[in-house]
Amino acid sequence: MTTIFSGIKPTGHLTLGNYLGAVSRWVGIDQHRADALFSVVDLHALTVEHDPARVRRLSRQTATLLLAAGLDPDVCTLFVQSHVDEHARLSFLMECVATDGELRRMIQYREKSARAAKSGESVRFSLLSYPALMAADILAYRTDEVPVGEDQRQHVELARDLAVRFNHRYGQTFTVPRAVAPQVGARVMDLQDPTGKMGKSHADGSGVIYLLDDLAAVRKKIMRAVTDSGRDVVYDRAERPGVANLLDILAACGGGGDPAALAASYDSYGALKRDTAEAVIEVLRPLQERHAKLAADPGEVEGVLRAGAGRARSVARPVVDAAYAAIGLLPAV
Ligand code: AMP
Ligand code: TRP
Repeated sequence: MTTIFSGIKPTGHLTLGNYLGAVSRWVGIDQHRADALFSVVDLHALTVEHDPARVRRLSRQTATLLLAAGLDPDVCTLFVQSHVDEHARLSFLMECVATDGELRRMIQYREKSARAAKSGESVRFSLLSYPALMAADILAYRTDEVPVGEDQRQHVELARDLAVRFNHRYGQTFTVPRAVAPQVGARVMDLQDPTGKMGKSHADGSGVIYLLDDLAAVRKKIMRAVTDSGRDVVYDRAERPGVANLLDILAACGGGGDPAALAASYDSYGALKRDTAEAVIEVLRPLQERHAKLAADPGEVEGVLRAGAGRARSVARPVVDAAYAAIGLLPAV
């Protein structure tokens, strides 16, 4: 059976980008077709400046939203990364297999560290080693497929390289994983700056749709989305990124398969925005209703996470033990 693993960081409120780029696929396809594990990767949230209480709150909220979005604990495994020690245990071995140059080449590290340098902030060492931890997340479960948005493809490729290198040097231990991305929605852009991705930790949320946003605010944000000075509706990601983003969102929210074909049925930006807003609202409404019910019963979510961590541990433990033995560590008796 195919094994699928993916994760989401509790660094902010979940966005429509997270939903269309990753979560909707986990819910709709992945959990049913494979042995699927999904994790709130809280250790990753510590790689940037953070408030401990907020990380705790967001971890719980993220797990609750994943269940509200439709992850079914009877068919998949949902857990919090730090509840399963194997991730941190394997991460160190990954740091011993990865090279300094390889980690410094990661686009996300280069972008984030350049931004920090500009504003005079320091960069945590863990931001550099982050992809080693992510590789550990993936390899500890002998994962075949990693469903992620486009921005994470390079990290999954590094996990592949590390698996191949480890197996070659120390003996067959890990499955070599590959990234899988959705057809539409793999890169949802910010509504106010459609050349940048819609990210959950943006300081100004006016271009970001959060899954728990008030529905009237969702409509407003979409109606105010930046388009361009043209008037006809065409799908051109390079020249008309704002309009293309709306078409992508509409297509991914059930407006009908192909964003380029959808463009032909519109002759004004206003109509496109109205329909996109309605389509997004129809996706968010039931999700918000289920979230409200689940949030009222935190004991249930805790139970799901406890059982999930137990299951995850039982899979990861023997794999990580095998890696420890292969690399030359004396087994504990
Ligand atoms: P993160 O928010 O970085 O923890 O990402 C969790 C998942 O959502 C990853 O699979 C990302 O690739 C995906 N994701 C995040 N932002 C976007 C976006 N704007 N468009 C598409 N996918 C995204
Ligand atoms: N780095 C991923 C992101 O920012 C989150 C993540 C951590 C992840 N570990 C993972 C995704 C393992 C897939 C598999 O989105």
